[in-house]
Amino acid sequence: MSSNPSINLLIAEDEKNLGVVLQKEMSRLGHHVTLVHDAEAAIKAARESEFDVALLDIMMPGRSGLEVLRELRQQDQPPEVLMMTGHATVETALQAMKLGAYDYLTKPCHIRELEAIINKAYEKRQLRFENLILQSRLTYKEKAPDIVVRSQKMADVMTLVRKIASSNATVLVTGDSGTGKELVANTVHCFSQRHAGPFIDISCAAIQETLLESELFGYEQGAFTGARKRKLGLLELAHGGTLFLDEIGEMSLTLQSKLLRVLETQSFYRVGGTKKVEVDVRFIAATNRDLGHDVVEGKFRSDLLFRINNFTIKLPSLSERPEDIPALAEHFLALVSGGGRAHLSDEAMQVLMNYAWPGNVRELRNVIERAVILSSGDELGAEDLPLELRTHRMINVMPAEDDESNGGSLDELRRKQILVVLEQTGWHQGKASEILGISPSTLYRQLKVYGLTRSRRLHEQAF
Ligand SMILES: Nc1ncnc2c1ncn2[C@@H]1O[C@H](COP(=O)(O)OP(=O)(O)OP(=O)(O)O)[C@@H](O)[C@H]1O
Ligand SMILES: [Mg+2]
Repeated sequence: MSSNPSINLLIAEDEKNLGVVLQKEMSRLGHHVTLVHDAEAAIKAARESEFDVALLDIMMPGRSGLEVLRELRQQDQPPEVLMMTGHATVETALQAMKLGAYDYLTKPCHIRELEAIINKAYEKRQLRFENLILQSRLTYKEKAPDIVVRSQKMADVMTLVRKIASSNATVLVTGDSGTGKELVANTVHCFSQRHAGPFIDISCAAIQETLLESELFGYEQGAFTGARKRKLGLLELAHGGTLFLDEIGEMSLTLQSKLLRVLETQSFYRVGGTKKVEVDVRFIAATNRDLGHDVVEGKFRSDLLFRINNFTIKLPSLSERPEDIPALAEHFLALVSGGGRAHLSDEAMQVLMNYAWPGNVRELRNVIERAVILSSGDELGAEDLPLELRTHRMINVMPAEDDESNGGSLDELRRKQILVVLEQTGWHQGKASEILGISPSTLYRQLKVYGLTRSRRLHEQAF
């Protein structure tokens, strides 16, 4: 593996002989060179493929190298640009620097000098690129995220969060989907001394094993087919901060043992690398699985579990802390309506309180966001909430499914409820019985008892 990177280089030089010499020399150094002889061709080439570095002659027939520079700077991921100039145009070269060129060379240029400058320009572009990735993945937060805490259970969670934040200990956050694991992990970081450092999260479930490995550890140029340049992994990018390994239970056993080594030594090797990289990273892991059970089943390494669960923060599901529901609902309402005057009707709040929230806080957030879109005024009513929440409540106040000894009004309510659900499901009796919480055969019987058929419904709707 050569230590020099292979750079994608664009050379625009109208003096053909000089162009060919440059191309030859740069190719000899292992770079991929595209040679063009005027500005138009340079712009076209840069549109068609991505270059790391562009070497542009300033004086060319037609449009000048400066104009090419201007065009290139409009690109999303522009190459670093080096200008070449004769003595007479040094002023123009300085102007080019103002326009964002990386550097300039005066002709005639030495190959060694050119080589060094191209390498530097390439490094700068790499850094810029890695920074961009980093910026998109991490959150530098001035203050901790807003967490709604009303129930004693959540208050206990927050006490624990504060206690363990200041240590460097690895933390395992557990809880069902949507209970706020990521939010809590982020809060631990924000309350720690590392809060000014990066918080980087990666989901071990979202990407396949080999990709996850190179995302975490990074790789050296030539480590595998397609590894054209060195890439830094998230472990390295999280240096001085926190790495949040979400859904750690989905990690393969092989990767688990590699991670264990990192946790133990705070160092690792990039894929295909021979140089040990030392990092200072705090780890927080999260899972909605029972890792103890996975250990028994041989799906999770016991030594890794032992290493990561020094501290476990267990998030209660929302149904275990209904006191949080109103405050969370108001919180999300204020967030989505931009702190406007929107509020929930008493009836709507009652519906929220009666629901079981299998999707926990995330589901509540989605419900409120949807309701804000659907509602016409400042008040969100029960009718703005999804059907499954409302029917759930109706079922709660309904008599037992086979209890037919009740008065007429309850019968009428039940009949209407069945109609509403059938209508919503397009008269799909399987789905309707599921929503109503009764078996399909009971639904069938009740349709007969109440004399409900599809045509009857249409008839009723017409009047
Ligand atoms: N106590 C809380 N206060 C305010 N917002 C919360 C609270 N708990 C969760 N949320 C919000 O609910 C949503 C889901 O939370 P989060 O993504 O942290 O859950 P999770 O447990 O990581 O879910 P999953 O297992 O699906 O990844 C987020 O928008 C989060 O901001
Ligand atoms: Mg999550």
